[in-house]
Amino acid sequence: MSLENVIARFDVDDPGFIADPYPVLNELREATPIFRNERTGQWTLTRFADAYECLRDRRLGRSYSHLYTHAQLRRAEPDARWAAFQQHERWSLLCLEPPDHTRIRRLVSKVFTPRAVTAMRPTVQGFADELLDHCRDLGTFELLGDYAQPFSVAVICSMLGVPRTDTKLLLDWSHAIVKMYELSTTDAIREGANSAAAEYIDYTKSLISKKRAQPDDLLVSALVAVEDEGDVLTEDEIVSTTMVLLEAGHEATVNTLGNGMRAILSHEGEWQRVTGGEVAPRVAVEEMLRWDSPLQLFERWALEDGVVIAGQPIEVGDEIAMLFGSAQRDPRRFDNPDLFDIARGDTAHIGFGGGIHFCVGAPLARQEIEVSVAGLAERFPTLALAETPTYHPNFVIRGLTALRLESQK
Ligand code: HEM
Repeated sequence: MSLENVIARFDVDDPGFIADPYPVLNELREATPIFRNERTGQWTLTRFADAYECLRDRRLGRSYSHLYTHAQLRRAEPDARWAAFQQHERWSLLCLEPPDHTRIRRLVSKVFTPRAVTAMRPTVQGFADELLDHCRDLGTFELLGDYAQPFSVAVICSMLGVPRTDTKLLLDWSHAIVKMYELSTTDAIREGANSAAAEYIDYTKSLISKKRAQPDDLLVSALVAVEDEGDVLTEDEIVSTTMVLLEAGHEATVNTLGNGMRAILSHEGEWQRVTGGEVAPRVAVEEMLRWDSPLQLFERWALEDGVVIAGQPIEVGDEIAMLFGSAQRDPRRFDNPDLFDIARGDTAHIGFGGGIHFCVGAPLARQEIEVSVAGLAERFPTLALAETPTYHPNFVIRGLTALRLESQK
């Protein structure tokens, strides 16, 4: 097959591709390390080593607005119709580069220390126990809706100091907002994301004023206190930071649990390796992250001249897309990469990124997934798929619509 034909099969609107993108991603990766996606105008990377390098390359950035105007890089001005969406991510860590990124990241990192995450463990365990006991009472249960979503939202809300009673609101907003990050969107989806962002901003502002009046020792109050003491964080910065933590803090965790448990239960004998004690849940987490990436694509802008990736010269203002799902199955990096091996335990994958944007929540996410797998193994030693699950019709954020599970008699 010609290279053009292989590239044409990278079609995020093709249900067959979404159902199982890996055969196409494997072909693409073996055909070329880099190709131009004519639909998005992005240079697209397929191999682990190139993605790994790009994540660390300081000549590339997640945004360019600290250095260039849109016109200078021949890019369209942001669409004024989606102003609330733009406002919500304006000060998000994911949209900043140094020096603003360094300043805000330092403050957030203080709260996400390994010690703080370890201290969260009893709380995380408590949420898992409560929800998994309920799943056991249900008999057949839906892992995402009955467990993973309420679990991960409860965890991040309790770290931030957001009332648990508001989690349904936050879930709905977050689901609508993250659709904006797909390669293929419609105005209806953008409108939904924008109005969700507007409501989310109002909610967060009112939360901040409540914390100002009645501080606690949780993250939102900590961010407010920093602002009050040293005029370091503005209200807009606190709003964006709180929102990115809520969003980033649960979508990927939910999808790692869904995609990962589906993978385990579709490979005979793998669950028994966990329930029988051969493979610790902590080890299982890494293969769950690698084999079916919950986040398939991340982007960077070229900020300087002279960048060459996989032999391809890249111009200032060009956009680069890293295909994580492809990189995580690269045989140059992983032995027998299509094999789902729950004991693989390779922690040096790129599932949490790398470089200055490395996932702030990685220790928390690992802990959440470990506690969940352990809780499932303890209660459901004979767990099995109750039906064949299907994926949401999205590419970038890869997750199941539902995952119905039951214990085998
Ligand atoms: C399994 C779950 C998770 C996965 C797979 C994941 C993955 C990632 C990846 C790949 C990045 C880097 C993006 C890039 O370089 O462009 C990232 C960044 C980030 N993640 Fe996570 N994440 C997860 C859970 C979490 C959690 C639980 C939180 C917060 C509580 C979180 C907060 C963040 C934040 C704030 C950033 C931006 C950091 C920065 O730009 O400096 N993530 N995540």
